[in-house]
Amino acid sequence: MERSDSHSTESPNWWQSGVVYQIYPRSFADSNGDGVGDLQGIRSRLDYLEWLGVHVLWLSPVFRSPMRDFGYDVSDYCDIDPVFGTLADMDALIADCHARGIRLMLDWVPNHSSSDHPWFVESRRDRTNPKADWYVWRDEPVNNWLAAFPAGDRAWSFDPGREQWYLRCFLPEQPDLNWDNPDVEAAMHETLRFWLDRGVDGFRMDVVHLIGKQLDANDPDTAVERGYSHVTFNDVPVTHERLRGIRRVLDSYAGDRACVGEVYLLDEARMAEYYGHGDELQLSFNFSFLWAEWDAAILRAKVLATLNHLRPRNAWPTWVLSNHDVTRHRQRYGGSEAVARMAAVMLLTLPGTPFLYMGEELGLVDAEVPPDRVVDVDGRDGCRAPLPWTPTPDHGWPHDPWLPFVAAADECNVATLRERPGSVLHLYRDLLRLRHEHPELQIGEFTMIERDDNVLAYERSLGDRIFTIALNLSDSPSRLEIASDHRVLLATVPFDPSMPFDGMLPPQSALISTGT
Ligand code: NOJ
Repeated sequence: MERSDSHSTESPNWWQSGVVYQIYPRSFADSNGDGVGDLQGIRSRLDYLEWLGVHVLWLSPVFRSPMRDFGYDVSDYCDIDPVFGTLADMDALIADCHARGIRLMLDWVPNHSSSDHPWFVESRRDRTNPKADWYVWRDEPVNNWLAAFPAGDRAWSFDPGREQWYLRCFLPEQPDLNWDNPDVEAAMHETLRFWLDRGVDGFRMDVVHLIGKQLDANDPDTAVERGYSHVTFNDVPVTHERLRGIRRVLDSYAGDRACVGEVYLLDEARMAEYYGHGDELQLSFNFSFLWAEWDAAILRAKVLATLNHLRPRNAWPTWVLSNHDVTRHRQRYGGSEAVARMAAVMLLTLPGTPFLYMGEELGLVDAEVPPDRVVDVDGRDGCRAPLPWTPTPDHGWPHDPWLPFVAAADECNVATLRERPGSVLHLYRDLLRLRHEHPELQIGEFTMIERDDNVLAYERSLGDRIFTIALNLSDSPSRLEIASDHRVLLATVPFDPSMPFDGMLPPQSALISTGT
């Protein structure tokens, strides 16, 4: 066995002990029948989230936006878009969450605004206005960077008014803010304060590794030839100074406000840098792990690499498999419910903070979106399908939602699975409860059990209490050597809790055992 890591901490912060549930608000719950989810819809479903047992909600952006990137193009950082409700609705949601002991994180988009934002409208007017330098303007493109959308586009757009080019790492309607300008940095800090003053617990920070840039550094030619966007290459020192500035804003508030950064760099070593030395991001997403294949050796290597890079910094890992940008992990891993169940066990028992994406607790795959209903520029509609609440044809939505439901919504919906003990929904709930009841699974030491087969196995422990977690990804039974007093606490296949564990892991199954 390799005792590979220890992240024990006696009194964990909420963002360490909790489990985060990502809500994509457009697709969660619609209170006013316009086919788009909203804040009142979220409020009306807090009972469900409390029943499920999540402790933190992260809402994808709800700020004012022309919705060309469905909220990731912000035209007012300090207001709620009418499609989602009002500031009063947000205040009510914050209060309701807190009354239930649930924390709330908002999605903050610091790298770019909408081209409809008054800052950009002014900036593009001429070359001398007070906001002329709030975005990245040049007489000609100064590097070979490609934008993320539409894939293959140059990251520079020409503005006929100023007769200059502006940088936009995403859509032409998402111009990059110029963080080299201290006024921009100060204005963005103010937007954080606006929400911190209203009581939000923290932020998910969109592509936050992009707020520092080195414009004269070209991306590798080979990557550009293949059409790779600049986003995965941007990694420059000045960003860290800016993250420390952001962290100082958070730390100036009582109540342990926290952030998780979308650091879209695909290796653990570079991602780890964004935690700084306890003075930058409290949490960073781990995309290298998200993109790992469903294979025990690969997952084992990714987990160990993550921990090896974070441990020296005393940095807290995160684990995420699905979100609003990627094909849902059940589908990526082959589509079976057995895989969805095993992945849930892994996600909720690795050492660090798990992030769940709404609907994964129902075992959802992506919806099939016919060409005439495609709305996203980057093919991400499938994973954003509306959450099915009921088996009825409307699935609990008062009006036809903006995107189609998943094909399996008659079966995979909250009401049906909630009534079915043993369903994947109950598995998530049982896992959340187990994790909540046992600090070993939140803050315990982590030890990887080295094996040379398609079994991922590890231990979590505090003192003498050891939990063993094992996933058999193969199609044949496999033996697991554990102490003879171990009993199975939870498994993805039926088991008899009164019997000692016989050491055999059925194929395509996962279990958690402990000796007491
Ligand atoms: C990452 C977000 O997750 C994605 O949805 C968005 O399109 C880009 N950043 C641009 O903001």
